[in-house]
Amino acid sequence: MTTAHNRVEVMHGVNLDMLGRRPAEHYGNITLDQLQVKVRGFARELDLEARFFNTNHEGEFVEHLHRVHQLTDGLILNAGAWTHYSYAIRDALEIVGLPTVEVHLSAVGAREEWRRHSVLEGLVLETVSGEGPDGYRKALGLLKERFGV
Ligand code: DQA
Repeated sequence: MTTAHNRVEVMHGVNLDMLGRRPAEHYGNITLDQLQVKVRGFARELDLEARFFNTNHEGEFVEHLHRVHQLTDGLILNAGAWTHYSYAIRDALEIVGLPTVEVHLSAVGAREEWRRHSVLEGLVLETVSGEGPDGYRKALGLLKERFGV
């Protein structure tokens, strides 16, 4: 049964539906579906309930953020390349006001210069990057700690 403060919405942005076809040295071979199955399992181990949303459309991502406060207690965001330039997504995240962890599969700090900056900085509890799928387990753990459940 769902208890208060155990719901986590995991949102994937642009090009993350192409996992499995993206450079394996950064993203491995896992598909988005396989990643989501894995993350649901991590969540269950922590007595959390994960739900998933993904889109390649920035406006849809923003609109999902507008409504998500009714659906969840915390967020895990991997906004893909939007991370680095979408002030629209930053503003929407500010409106949501829910505890959020930013996750990147790849080590964004060790790649091209333009990936080193995140417009979400200051709005997220923490950024986890370069740990592949396990980064989501860490993010769930951080949210669980924050929920105090
Ligand atoms: C990413 C890193 C971003 O720089 C990139 O644009 C992505 C994926 C990651 O998960 O490592 O699409 O967010």
